[in-house]
Amino acid sequence: MTPTALGLLLAPLQPASIHDSCLSSKFYGIYNHGDATTRSLYLGDLECLTSFDVSGGDAALAGYTPSPDDVLAWVYQAPASEELLSSHPPFPRALDTFIYQISPKGDYDDSNQLPLESTSDRALLYRSDTSALVYVNREIARRLDTLIPPMWKSALLPSSPIASYPVPTDAVKRIKHITSSLKFSPDIAATVNSISIPQMRNDIRFLTGEDGKSGIVSRHSFADGSRVAAAWLKDRFEETGAHCTLKAFSQGFAPNVICRYNADVKTNATIILGAHYDSRGSFGNTRAPGGDDDGSGTISLLSIARTIASKKVKFHTNVELVAFAGEEQGLVGSRAYARELRAAGANVTMMIQADMLAYRAPNEPLQLGLPESIGTPAVVQLVSNVSALYSPELTVGFTKACCSDHQSFHEQGFASTQVFERAGWIADPMYHNSGDVSDREGYDFEQVKAIAKVQFATVLHVAGFTTSG
Ligand SMILES: *[C@@H]1O[C@H](CO)[C@@H](O)[C@H](O)[C@H]1NC(C)=O
Ligand SMILES: *[C@@H]1O[C@H](CO)[C@@H](O)[C@H](O)[C@H]1NC(C)=O
Ligand SMILES: *[C@@H]1O[C@H](CO)[C@@H](O)[C@H](O)[C@H]1NC(C)=O
Ligand SMILES: [Zn+2]
Repeated sequence: MTPTALGLLLAPLQPASIHDSCLSSKFYGIYNHGDATTRSLYLGDLECLTSFDVSGGDAALAGYTPSPDDVLAWVYQAPASEELLSSHPPFPRALDTFIYQISPKGDYDDSNQLPLESTSDRALLYRSDTSALVYVNREIARRLDTLIPPMWKSALLPSSPIASYPVPTDAVKRIKHITSSLKFSPDIAATVNSISIPQMRNDIRFLTGEDGKSGIVSRHSFADGSRVAAAWLKDRFEETGAHCTLKAFSQGFAPNVICRYNADVKTNATIILGAHYDSRGSFGNTRAPGGDDDGSGTISLLSIARTIASKKVKFHTNVELVAFAGEEQGLVGSRAYARELRAAGANVTMMIQADMLAYRAPNEPLQLGLPESIGTPAVVQLVSNVSALYSPELTVGFTKACCSDHQSFHEQGFASTQVFERAGWIADPMYHNSGDVSDREGYDFEQVKAIAKVQFATVLHVAGFTTSG
């Protein structure tokens, strides 16, 4: 039998709307398409893809026959500010260079010239002005993020199609009910206000290696520093009364750090706060301190854990604080965990991902950015209302920055959202580079604390709790 050529469809469809069609078994996830719009990606036989009439769908491509060693990867320009983007070569030009680098050897003469148009298609399946689908071998797949510019992101496609579930209306109703009965609680305010900035400062300096003691140079998922960070995080969370596991999810990657506070009543409902502790550099840089991305989200979880301990908080719902790895390779760790929870029939009330909380541009107020596209609008509304009650110092707005680990929960039908450092585009000049340390202009612990208060207060409202500290 000859292997069938694959077709590709990029459609602005919610996977739920294709439930009964041939497309339902061809879904590979939701990807950033450029200009901060997203597309659902389907791969499979052309007959199915072309039989499906989608207005606004892009690209049905013929003729690619995958080899067993191929890994497909989506690369795209991060939704960053004009100012940041203008200091780098434009995407189409950088893509030509990139394709040249990843193309199988032998496709070019050795003249050291950039490839001609005709040969530059070798590893390329699809391109738009700000995104592309490429295939690479496994070895390159492992270090793809070291080959791309800082303003790009890459995501390895899963090796097989993924099932996707809509968030059930009951789950949304539960969140809306909590929002509609939300009232300021002096008890919650006192609890969240006791989050300690000096403690956060110590924690981030360990994770970035700035303290000169941890020895961490990078928390890249394949780097030694990620293992040091994982073990350290487990110990710190466990000191606060959590039960933690270092859960491996894919060969070679550092594990997810999954920490759980069991409810003091009998329930299987679980609330999850996430962040990713892995980091990345760009263009072969080995130093990747990841102070903002996403050390800041990681210390927000740690600051909440430390306050759970100091205030002796007992929740009436199970609460998990999860530090994911493999985010920078395309949500690999969180996808594995969300799929596992779905398969187990887990009762996840809500998931909130904290990714990049610290950077504040000169002359901007303290901000909280909530995602425009991926996630559950009812959770966005809840978080926004909680922010007004407990962190009035934050200006709340929407962001086009997208696609962190909450997307994995969204795909599996769990209500979710993300918290981010500003409305609008990514503006941190140290994004994905070796300068992303905590001791620098613009790294604002007051903002990290203000957003951590929102994450924590949301959990306290949704979970129910007692304190005795
Ligand atoms: C999830 O937990 C809530 C709160 O305890 C409960 O009302 C609901 O029945 C549970 N749902 C499932 C599917 O287990
Ligand atoms: C969770 O608890 C509810 C009752 O509150 C029950 O109906 C449901 O089956 C339980 N789910 C799991 C996965 O144990
Ligand atoms: C939540 O915020 C909206 C505005 O975004 C407001 O209209 C609504 O009254 C708020 N609800 C509560 C309970 O504060
Ligand atoms: Zn991140």
